[in-house]
Amino acid sequence: MVDGGGFSKQTLMRRLERFGMMWKYGTNFRKPLYMARLTKEVIHAQVGSKAGARLRGIDFAINYGCNFKCKFCFNDRLLRNAPLMQPADYERVVKDAMDLGATLFSFQGGETIMFKKKLFDILDVIPRNRNRIPITTNAWFLDEASLKELRDHGVDSINISLGSFDSKTHDSFRLKEGSYERCIKGIELCLRKGINVSINTVVSHDNIHDEHFLNLIKYADTNNILINVMFAAPTGGWEGNKDVLMTAEDLAHLRTLREKYHCMVHDSDANYIIKKGCPGGKESLHISPYGDVLGCPFVQISLGNVMHESLKDIYARIMKNPYFGKYNQYCLIGEDHDFMKRYIKVIDTAKKQLPLSEDHYGKMFQLKESEIEK
Ligand SMILES: C[S@@+](CC[C@H](N)C(=O)[O-])C[C@H]1O[C@@H](n2cnc3c(N)ncnc32)[C@H](O)[C@@H]1O
Ligand code: SF4
Repeated sequence: MVDGGGFSKQTLMRRLERFGMMWKYGTNFRKPLYMARLTKEVIHAQVGSKAGARLRGIDFAINYGCNFKCKFCFNDRLLRNAPLMQPADYERVVKDAMDLGATLFSFQGGETIMFKKKLFDILDVIPRNRNRIPITTNAWFLDEASLKELRDHGVDSINISLGSFDSKTHDSFRLKEGSYERCIKGIELCLRKGINVSINTVVSHDNIHDEHFLNLIKYADTNNILINVMFAAPTGGWEGNKDVLMTAEDLAHLRTLREKYHCMVHDSDANYIIKKGCPGGKESLHISPYGDVLGCPFVQISLGNVMHESLKDIYARIMKNPYFGKYNQYCLIGEDHDFMKRYIKVIDTAKKQLPLSEDHYGKMFQLKESEIEK
């Protein structure tokens, strides 16, 4: 999400406040080794003979299983019957990722807290003093006991997915009665325990002008909670759905809100490289439970598989990928309509198990303008 061109005193204040917020979430002075690695990587990305993209972090899905059945969710299309990565595989991948610059290992899913035993075995092979470890959850299983267990195994922060500040809207979006209440309880529990908590919310053409979306931002702002705004992606339950995508007007409205509320961030705000756009591929990767490497979980075309190839070899190839090898100014799958049209076209004609093989990036890239408009 790139800000508009105007630059008033108020804009400058908002940017400084946002930086302060990101600083609070991204730093941890009780982890001096992590802070030293983070500082080194940020400097390394800007200056020196090898300045440029460095891998910042990996988002792992250890299992796509979930207790919810959200209509829009991306994970169903990636589910398959294949061997799952084991702790030793994670240990190897984390080591390679750290060599490539990574200081962030986050866990999504599926609903990861459902798979505690496996999660804890994996967390225990990550050098926690040298990295930051957040977890994203629907908050259903988040209580005092599970929070303590997560903390004991090295989780630094909790990211709760809240679809709306209206309980009925949230529960129907998530198809789970009572889920709004658990999210609010989870947020309050983290705040009480002094644990960094942030909110993930999906913004789409359908809800951007909704009063509940605005109320959610105001709630986050009042409580000084970071709110990660994710764009509706034409993937999973929304596969091929152009109606939910953010239009140019919606994006302009979002930018206006961002000028006012410093708590609103997007993935691209946390890059090692200052002001370079979409982090997918170069700075962040998603790895499926079966080892598939994706530039982001919403773009379900493979970039390789760590069960068959080293992450370092895959990363070297990613840097040559027509989309993920360079910084795109806009979020590829939420803002970049040319990319989204090409993606929808290729996924639509494939109609099979995802992720698609890597050569589909070439096919997407080569589609003619007239072909993507059809
Ligand atoms: C797949 S969930 C996994 C973690 C956990 N189960 C949760 O819901 O927070 C991760 C995030 O992806 C978002 N998400 C899933 N499908 C999406 C889609 N098609 N477009 C945009 N965001 C999506 C969810 O809202 C959630 O915040
Ligand atoms: S968005 Fe999260 S809670 Fe909803 S079905 Fe997907 S994984 Fe489960």
